[in-house]
Amino acid sequence: MTVPHDSWAAGYDHLYEASFGAFYRQLTQATLQVITRAQSAPARVLDFGAGTGRLALPLAARGYEVTAVDPSAQMLAALAQKPGAGGITTHVGRMQDFRSEGSFDLATCVFTVLLYLLTEEDLVQSIVAAARALRPGGQFLLDIPSRRLFQDAGYSDDSCARRVRITPVTRQIFDYEETSSIQVGGQTRHFEDRFQIRYWPSGFVRAVLLENGFDLVRDLSADFAATGSEYLLLRRR
Ligand SMILES: C[S@@+](CC[C@H](N)C(=O)[O-])C[C@H]1O[C@@H](n2cnc3c(N)ncnc32)[C@H](O)[C@@H]1O
Repeated sequence: MTVPHDSWAAGYDHLYEASFGAFYRQLTQATLQVITRAQSAPARVLDFGAGTGRLALPLAARGYEVTAVDPSAQMLAALAQKPGAGGITTHVGRMQDFRSEGSFDLATCVFTVLLYLLTEEDLVQSIVAAARALRPGGQFLLDIPSRRLFQDAGYSDDSCARRVRITPVTRQIFDYEETSSIQVGGQTRHFEDRFQIRYWPSGFVRAVLLENGFDLVRDLSADFAATGSEYLLLRRR
């Protein structure tokens, strides 16, 4: 079975940094600021859907003990190759299957990780996994992508070309198709991926959070409006 992102993990950073431009770096700084204000280092941070370490690496550099969870072994391999990754624990697996008992101070699940969850059971089990992994009072930063993110996108410059096609399958499930290329050492490297994603209405996700042990600390959505997602900081009861 193919795992989303495995086939293009080697091009992911280049494609995201190029296609999102300065916004990507600003978003990273804004997200780090929320995390470091919510929980100062040293502390144990669990990064669900950590990808290539956009947050895990700078958090580790700031003195946090970071565990990076992601089902894509290739995304985590890209993370592990980077300078500063030595102190980060990586775990190849899905958020909904993660088992840890109350040992983390803060968990993150951001930059559209939620839309990879395709069933209500996966959503509930993911939120249960986050609650179980946090100590009482531990905090959880989560983004909920809005429906307007579910549309085709494209980008190209001298170094890469990116095409994302989003096709509705049902009212909530969409096919995601990535067809991209980057220039490396005079050669063109092509990447393709295809998987499904799901739109989750915010009210539904908020109800699941409340039912499974989280209270809202702060709704940060206005500060993160440019992402097209709601950003919530929650606390485990
Ligand atoms: C768009 S990337 C975001 C990466 C990172 N969170 C960031 O902020 O840059 C989404 C990541 O979610 C991961 N992912 C997909 N399904 C997941 C699941 N069920 N549990 C945890 N992570 C998942 C993907 O492999 C990918 O690395």
